[in-house]
Amino acid sequence: MTDDIARARDLLDHATSVAVLTGAGISAESGIPTFRDALTGLWENFRPEELATPEAFEANPKLVWDWYAWRREIVAKAVPNEGHRALAELERQCREHEVDFTLVTQNVDGLHREAGSHRVVELHGNIRRVKCFGQHHPVEIWPEGDGVPACPRCGSLLRPDVVWFGEMLPSDELAAALAAARTCDVFLCVGTSAVVEPAASLPFMALQAGARVIEVNPRPTPLTPSASVSLHGTAAHLLPLIIGIAQ
Ligand code: OAD
Repeated sequence: MTDDIARARDLLDHATSVAVLTGAGISAESGIPTFRDALTGLWENFRPEELATPEAFEANPKLVWDWYAWRREIVAKAVPNEGHRALAELERQCREHEVDFTLVTQNVDGLHREAGSHRVVELHGNIRRVKCFGQHHPVEIWPEGDGVPACPRCGSLLRPDVVWFGEMLPSDELAAALAAARTCDVFLCVGTSAVVEPAASLPFMALQAGARVIEVNPRPTPLTPSASVSLHGTAAHLLPLIIGIAQ
């Protein structure tokens, strides 16, 4: 393990362009359940296709709104952990050495920015934002009550500003993520099961373009056999060691 940490550190030290992809695993140690882990996964109790699709919202807006309200409460109480903070420090180090840096996240919890990361690409939206279902009008304040609130501009029901299954990813964010994957020479992949497209393809695009991939995950994923360095452990434990802010 110590050798692998040193190899990961060495790859990052010699990089000219770094891309990072994070998934739910990086926020697990902040108390936010992942999606696909046994026992703690959010979807052990809920079927995603019943909750995270436009069709589900149209069929039962109250159920979907309440589920996201519950998740929003968990996120509101969460604080960034050592893993988030280490990535903010990696960005700072890259800036200092004029190394390109992009952090792409599938998470909707906003914890990377809270930890001090600046260049964050939120591929799946942000649960703290709300927009209307019909016209995508952003809405800042809404009444809490029993029903699903409506848009003050058009009357359409409000929904979280996250990407649901079957929806397009925000185009600017997707373009930035693709560009980062294609141009980096080191790609760090943290806490994602690497199964949901198009995010899952980003490390493979980087590999195809000649980058080296470092993976941090307690469990093997479809990416593991292709990674130059695969570190099996948690993000909050390993990232500070890799970034060199812990011994
Ligand atoms: P998953 O729940 O699919 O995967 C979480 C990954 O984190 C797993 O591979 C775990 O082994 C790993 N993990 C768990 N604890 C960890 C820790 N402490 N440190 C590091 N890794 C840890 O979550 P995602 O891959 O993020 O999309 O899922 C991708 C997308 O699927 C989500 O963004 C969401 C969902 O559908 C949408 O809602 C659109």
